[in-house]
Amino acid sequence: MRRFFNTTGPCDEARHYMLPAEARLPDLVPWVERQLYFVLHAARQTGKTTAMRAFAARLRERGDVAVWATLEESQGRTEVSEAEPTWLGALWGAAERSLPPELRPPPRDSVSTEPEGQRLRTYLCAWAARVNRPVVLLLDEADVVSGPALVSLLRQLRAGFMDRGVGKFPVSVGLIGMRDLRDYLTQSKDGSPVNPGSPFNIKAGSLTLRNFSHTDVATLYGQHTADTGQVFTPEAVERAFWWTSGQPFLVNALAASCVDELVTDRSQAITAADIDAAKEALILSRTTHLDALGQRLREPRVARVVQAVLLGDMQVPYDSDDFTYAVDLGLVVHPKSGAQAANPLYREVLARELSYRTQANLAEPWWPWSRPDGTLDVPALVAAFTEWWRQNAAVLEERSQEGYREAVPHLVFMAFLQRVVNGGGRITREYAAGRGALDLLLEYAGEKHVFEIKRIPARHASLQRVRGEGLQQIAGYLDAVGVTEGWLLIFDQRAGMSWEERLTVEDVDVGGKLVRVRGM
Ligand SMILES: Nc1ncnc2c1ncn2[C@@H]1O[C@H](COP(=O)(O)OP(=O)(O)OP(=O)(O)O)[C@@H](O)[C@H]1O
Ligand SMILES: [Mg+2]
Repeated sequence: MRRFFNTTGPCDEARHYMLPAEARLPDLVPWVERQLYFVLHAARQTGKTTAMRAFAARLRERGDVAVWATLEESQGRTEVSEAEPTWLGALWGAAERSLPPELRPPPRDSVSTEPEGQRLRTYLCAWAARVNRPVVLLLDEADVVSGPALVSLLRQLRAGFMDRGVGKFPVSVGLIGMRDLRDYLTQSKDGSPVNPGSPFNIKAGSLTLRNFSHTDVATLYGQHTADTGQVFTPEAVERAFWWTSGQPFLVNALAASCVDELVTDRSQAITAADIDAAKEALILSRTTHLDALGQRLREPRVARVVQAVLLGDMQVPYDSDDFTYAVDLGLVVHPKSGAQAANPLYREVLARELSYRTQANLAEPWWPWSRPDGTLDVPALVAAFTEWWRQNAAVLEERSQEGYREAVPHLVFMAFLQRVVNGGGRITREYAAGRGALDLLLEYAGEKHVFEIKRIPARHASLQRVRGEGLQQIAGYLDAVGVTEGWLLIFDQRAGMSWEERLTVEDVDVGGKLVRVRGM
């Protein structure tokens, strides 16, 4: 069978193009030899399962009794009585799949007379005694376990850890999931005094997976070229890396869309423009990965972070669990310059998803934007938007999604531009914590139009200050884009301002560039 770019679940060497999975982790064999317990945490679809399955296979080749098992069945079962049988079932199933009969654990009913909450430990002791070789467990989706079940799981592992060793208890256990151990501990603190952290050495034992590097992406795409002769141009590789920052699923998804749908003629090279088209198709297809990301935006703790990143002028709650959570989800990253979307593709998805929802329940407005020559009449467009905003702002703010109220003007304006673009064009969005503004570049009919969106927050700001900052920022942005004219839209969110006070019109010369400042 021909290999292909995998976009569903873990990779398999025989069927998928893939990078050596284990090489993505530090060498964990010494950890097993030292009998350490550890946590592997990384965002969704980064290759955790692929890497850990490969690691288990290598340990088995060395003669260890190693299994990879998933605890996903434990999801939603917070009571020990319900969850514990699923753990035993998962271990049994995993052993059946990957070990010869003589190395499997004893039958599950051998522990059915043990008290609940001790069965797992007894079972693992019996298994270790039976095989008399090092037993290693890699427990995937460990962060779906919650409540008293989580406390019990960690307690039983801890109790066994004290006596671990060949013939006694698994010598090494890895917990795999999205969240770090610290967060398991926070979750499990519901009243019961546990200290389950001790076996899992937090400093030495918390690993994560990096994204693919530029070279990794080139190597992966090169496998397709080797198999089929179809080339990815260097610019295409570059563009794919840029859109994804090397996020493993996205890297595969862009390539899959190109070679399976957009350019099926293998004699045609994949270009950067194809990657751009694949990016657009991926966003519009609402693939599960992006859809799940979109769902996360509804969570209030995620909203707190995302809104601050989007507006660029709000305090990001860096020290909070909310922020750690958003980072663990893989949604945002935190370079020195300030928090931002984890990659340009997510940056676009977040903004589009939120702005789409903001406008979804409004009647289709009519916008007089087209000139006879097909270009945009931007002044007419801004005037029409201003009027429409004046009529609808109150309703829009009232109906805004939880956690995104301050961002309503930004989201609505983006939604509005998206409609324009749906008739043929492109929007590039720039936003990040600390930027102080949302920058939009609209490319349409061969022309570039630049907009900078700022707001006057309800407190601590004056029009003069915001205007002054905005003029400076947009001058830099106009330079970067290479145009001499742009729009600075300032939304006034101070209480008690009348529309007469809010609506201002001013054209300003900033170092030879024309900035049209519009208050609303
Ligand atoms: N070694 C690899 N080489 C190339 N692509 C990979 C590799 N590992 C993972 N991927 C990509 O990442 C996707 C997810 O892989 P996998 O299921 O192993 O990740 P995961 O982190 O366990 O995901 P989940 O969070 O859904 O459990 C794959 O479908 C594939 O697109
Ligand atoms: Mg997985």
